[in-house]
Amino acid sequence: MVPGLALRLAAAERLQLVLKGASFAPLAAADVSDARDRALANKLITTALRHHGHLSLMLNHLLDKGMPKKSGSFEAVARLSLAQLLFLPEIGDHSALFLAGEALKRDKNAAHLAKLLNAVLRRAQTEAAELRQGPPELLFAPALVKTWTAAYGADIIPAFAQALLDGAPLDVTLKADYPALLELLGARPILADTVRIDQRDKPVDQLPGFAEGRFWVQDAAAAIPARLLNLAPGARVLDIGASPGGKTAQLIKAGYTVTALERDPSRMERLRGNLHRLSYTAELVTADALDYVPASRFDGVLLDAPCSATGTFRRHPEVVWHRNPADIAGRVALQRQLISKGVDCLNPGGVLIYCVCSLEPEEGEAQARWAAEQGLELLPVAAGELNGWAVPVTETGYIRTHPGQIVPGEKGGTLDGFFVARFRRA
Ligand SMILES: C[S@@+](CC[C@H](N)C(=O)[O-])C[C@H]1O[C@@H](n2cnc3c(N)ncnc32)[C@H](O)[C@@H]1O
Repeated sequence: MVPGLALRLAAAERLQLVLKGASFAPLAAADVSDARDRALANKLITTALRHHGHLSLMLNHLLDKGMPKKSGSFEAVARLSLAQLLFLPEIGDHSALFLAGEALKRDKNAAHLAKLLNAVLRRAQTEAAELRQGPPELLFAPALVKTWTAAYGADIIPAFAQALLDGAPLDVTLKADYPALLELLGARPILADTVRIDQRDKPVDQLPGFAEGRFWVQDAAAAIPARLLNLAPGARVLDIGASPGGKTAQLIKAGYTVTALERDPSRMERLRGNLHRLSYTAELVTADALDYVPASRFDGVLLDAPCSATGTFRRHPEVVWHRNPADIAGRVALQRQLISKGVDCLNPGGVLIYCVCSLEPEEGEAQARWAAEQGLELLPVAAGELNGWAVPVTETGYIRTHPGQIVPGEKGGTLDGFFVARFRRA
């Protein structure tokens, strides 16, 4: 096969699935065996997804008769080729044009469109400078732009757009202090026991200290909720919605006796593997939280509720196109049921942490107000609990992080969007 073609066919197939609504799962060794080809294929897909809104604008402009109907892989190949041409110039224009044609020729539903795509890509080459200048608000679905502007202010969209295009650094939580390991990883502490790695040339599982269980991958924002439980070592804590286990690991590290509850059996296996690597133990319960009846109540409950996950768009750029208001509203009801269940599992005086990796106020602030109306006592969070960082602490005492924020002392590199509230059961 022509060099570089196989990886593009695999990339187009994966992108086509995402365009149809699937979540993006990076290509694995079983999809593209050569590690460099695989890295390039994943780079092409993520670049196309980060620039998705602008690529849509370009395709509208460059396709005089609109997107051809029933055209197989045409749209995916066009997006990948435009992404390469405009945003990954180091790969070379020639391969973008030539391999786009070769890829379409292998698809019986799109082969007849090879000339059209070639003309589109040639025109994109001549108009490249203007095409690269898309307005930031077109990088997100209009409904999200509306709610985020109302929630976070008029200036937030350019900041979110930059975060979407930049992607996320690798944040990991350390099992203990390992000064020598930080040097080996090229990592620096940014918040409590979270350290950040900007550049890496290896997959995470090949980094020094990974196999030895010295850290786990966890965004700096995702590491905040578990730290806020503040119970005595030995306290019994229920972790609802536990896999892949970043927060479970933190709870164990804090010295609690942990029960990890997870509905999805395959995700539970992932959690089991992660805890094994860390030499951590917890009671693992595979069950729907709504059906779970504990033998005895807990001192603390951490509820990391299933949510729209819009706060993770730096790592999952497709979420900004896949979520819609109806879909978000549907999750709100389940989150309320889970909050009530979490409270039932608590001893009187016990502490509930509610958190979601969502930027939507309906899943965050509104849920916390609802919980308070049900009789839970809000325990406001103070900036001192975030090493003095006051920016994400709201007036009410919730935590609201978003990808427009930068941790003090950092020059760039943002955070996932998280909402966290802490309550006590009366
Ligand atoms: C946001 S993820 C949790 C991330 C995890 N807490 C961590 O820090 O690594 C939410 C998890 O909740 C699980 N889940 C969703 N609904 C559930 C339910 N009704 N009962 C138990 N687990 C549930 C999902 O399968 C998913 O693994």
